[in-house]
Amino acid sequence: MNMMTRSSFPIVDEGSDHLKPRDFQRVAAFVSARTGIRLTEAKKIMVESRLRRRVRAKGAATLGEYVAETLGGSVVDEDEIVNLINAITTNKTDFFRESAHFDFIARVAAPEIAERGREGKFWSAACSTGAEPYTLAMVLADHALGCPDFRWSILASDISTDVLATARRGIYPIEMMTPVPEAVSRRYVMSPNDPKRGEVRIVPELRAAVRFARVNLIDDRWSVDRDLDLIMCRNLLIYFDRESQGRVLERLISHLRPGGFLILGHSDGVSGLDLPLRSLGRSIFKRVRT
Ligand SMILES: C[S@@+](CC[C@H](N)C(=O)[O-])C[C@H]1O[C@@H](n2cnc3c(N)ncnc32)[C@H](O)[C@@H]1O
Repeated sequence: MNMMTRSSFPIVDEGSDHLKPRDFQRVAAFVSARTGIRLTEAKKIMVESRLRRRVRAKGAATLGEYVAETLGGSVVDEDEIVNLINAITTNKTDFFRESAHFDFIARVAAPEIAERGREGKFWSAACSTGAEPYTLAMVLADHALGCPDFRWSILASDISTDVLATARRGIYPIEMMTPVPEAVSRRYVMSPNDPKRGEVRIVPELRAAVRFARVNLIDDRWSVDRDLDLIMCRNLLIYFDRESQGRVLERLISHLRPGGFLILGHSDGVSGLDLPLRSLGRSIFKRVRT
């Protein structure tokens, strides 16, 4: 029997249970190596609060015991590592977030991609619970209304299995639809069967057009096409250190066809990195060299 099953009810008051500096360093080093996410000392309280859920789920007595059991042994429990990463990631997202990007896609990128006459290939590379790829799908489906030959597909990926499960369901609290223009919502969002639940669902046609997959952008193995027309990787790089930012960006660009578009988040600065990109506007780029 391991320590975690033995202590099946906590004997420590959660509020007074903290990570020792050595344990925090161990978590931070592990998370950085596995995900690219930099956890500075300023994040310690947040990390503790997120890991408490895992302490309870595993029946550990303290944060220290959880860290020792999860990261201290010679054999790593990969199932628990998935849970730890799910707990640590920050998944804030919204429909039509940083809406200028979607205006750009509607006005410039979609017409240019449609003009090429072959299927447009799009990737939302840190898609969280799905608001970003479904917003993209709404914009592309709207473009296809006036351009019926326009065919498109979206790959949407994230490291967190929890957010991917939500994204695949495509069910959201009705308040999340506030930024969606009413006419767009009428076309692509279904009214709830039970209005008391306060939930809505993305229509089946859009759900079928988005393929969800787990991709860890810090890994060296991605099975993703290399002739994509547009990649969105927004509000992720801000959590990475400079070296990981450069590495991930170089690899993302290598999956774009020359002339393809890369859209980052408004806070994901890339200045100082030598990349084959031309800026087209705020955090919008075009791949320039092959
Ligand atoms: C703040 S959300 C941004 C969501 C969306 N792109 C947006 O801007 O609304 C960042 C997402 O990146 C994911 N993430 C963190 N590390 C990752 C990694 N190494 N590979 C892929 N996704 C990662 C998180 O799980 C989270 O869902």
